[in-house]
Amino acid sequence: MNLKDLYINYFVSKGHKQIPSAPVVPENDPSVLFNTAGMQPLIPYLKGEVKHPYGTRLVDYQKCIRTNDLDSIGDATHHTFFEMLGNWSLGDYFKDESIDYSYEFLTSVLKIDPNRLAVTVFRGNEYVPRDQVSADAWKRHGIKEERIAYMGEDDNWWPNMELLGPCGSDTEIFYFRSDEEVPLVFNPEDDRWVEIWNNVFMEYNHNEDGTFTPLPSKNVDTGMGLERVVAILEGKNDNYESSVWIDVIKTIEEISNKSYKGNEESMRIIADHTRTAVFISADPAGIKPSNTDQGYILRRLIRRVIRHAKKLGIDTSSDFFTRIANVIMDQYEEYYSEIKENRSVVLEVLNNETVKFNRTLEKGLREFQKIVSNMSGNVISKDLAFKLYDTYGFPIELTVELAREAGLLVDTLGFKEKFKAHQSLSRQNSAHKFKGGLQSDGVIETRYHTATHLLNAALKDVINKDVHQKGSNITSERMRFDFSCDHKLSEEEKSKVEELVNKWISEDIPVTKTIMSKEDAIKSGAECMFIDRYPSVVSVYSIGDVSHELCGGPHVSSTGELGKFKIIKEEASSAGVRRIKAVLSNE
Ligand code: ALA
Repeated sequence: MNLKDLYINYFVSKGHKQIPSAPVVPENDPSVLFNTAGMQPLIPYLKGEVKHPYGTRLVDYQKCIRTNDLDSIGDATHHTFFEMLGNWSLGDYFKDESIDYSYEFLTSVLKIDPNRLAVTVFRGNEYVPRDQVSADAWKRHGIKEERIAYMGEDDNWWPNMELLGPCGSDTEIFYFRSDEEVPLVFNPEDDRWVEIWNNVFMEYNHNEDGTFTPLPSKNVDTGMGLERVVAILEGKNDNYESSVWIDVIKTIEEISNKSYKGNEESMRIIADHTRTAVFISADPAGIKPSNTDQGYILRRLIRRVIRHAKKLGIDTSSDFFTRIANVIMDQYEEYYSEIKENRSVVLEVLNNETVKFNRTLEKGLREFQKIVSNMSGNVISKDLAFKLYDTYGFPIELTVELAREAGLLVDTLGFKEKFKAHQSLSRQNSAHKFKGGLQSDGVIETRYHTATHLLNAALKDVINKDVHQKGSNITSERMRFDFSCDHKLSEEEKSKVEELVNKWISEDIPVTKTIMSKEDAIKSGAECMFIDRYPSVVSVYSIGDVSHELCGGPHVSSTGELGKFKIIKEEASSAGVRRIKAVLSNE
């Protein structure tokens, strides 16, 4: 049985409920581009704002993406995408039981030699005392004092002292990953000790005014890096030699006709970045390579793969990307349905971006050579770096990498300023995409948003129950609403729809929001456009008995706020899909 199944089964046997992995692009959380930890989708529950519909003991494997440290990719243990195994107690068990579970799972289920384990424990600071409870729990299991390192808030506080939200001290578990003899005393600075599992004891909320106040309940949030643990179990000191990566590396060896030994860095980057690009492009958010936000990360990853493929002598106009991505998708589709469903989308994204980049790369490399040969100093200016970005599509990291190879530096700070000014407009626009499909969360748009729910309900009533929303778009001037329907609406149907919506508006029906599991929401018959785009826990907006829809909001508090509803146009959108444009007015 593989590690994911062992982990889930173990915690399920301890009364935990498995929750599905959330998409890599967070829904309803514009503060981050990607899910970086298993706890991210659980923040409202950790804060105690709402009860989790699955109870107080949860377990999952969560897809995570961390791209803040691209430079360390290429070493043996870091990945931009990784799977985090996590278990949670939401006000249920705390330190003792959490440590008991971790110890039992590692030593009895995975049969890891306890002599290879060591832990760090929080040594305390001005706010919180030393975590003696955790240290004692480890000792009870036979972990010796020499294998416990007491560390400060930089190491044993999660996420860190600066970030706001739920937080707490943690105890981290390390494994001695080396063929050398295990030292008696644990030294966390010695990188033969690798962190495998982090148990966070979340009992505080870090408030905006800087204070730390106790959370309504004490929670446990743990995260174990799947890739590292698999490598350990298989006795590999290099993650890429474990079963997680071996087929991917073999494929790259075959394609490049080179061996992994001696070409580790490029092969690791190709393997790692392709996997991350696969998961980003398969995500229900529908991310495509672009120059902003997640799209920009996707573009950088793909372009870096192409660069390193070229370095290995791979013909990047061949089907190399398809071959590598297919090996990855074969491996993951059993666990992640979006991979199974979006295989062709992924290949299209990778291949289209490759064609695009190949076209400019050669020209860009020539331009780079020209820059280098005409240079007087050893720093590539911000203007030249920006030209490489703007005209030749070189991500700044690529320019830095090429510069490093040529023994040069790049004015990256200057570049970033220029880049920021250039991007601010498109960033402003794209920031809005997080807000439940609204282009802006102004008052007028909010009204239109609620009106789409009424229109959806009215169409079902007037035409038939099988009418479903296929899309919508809102500006402060009008709403556009696409729906499945096999015929042009008659004048009579249109006026009936208008009348019904206006009747509901005049009844001033309250709009209410309920948070529930996606499963329950579907069971309750709530309307939903793209079921896969929603997290496991959703909000359902109800307008009296008229409408129940899964939706990120925001909405008005009662329908009386909408004004008068009028259809201004009804037309075909695509086969079997009609489009209505409508306005709200104050008459
Ligand atoms: N949230 C904790 C981490 O990511 C478990 O390390």
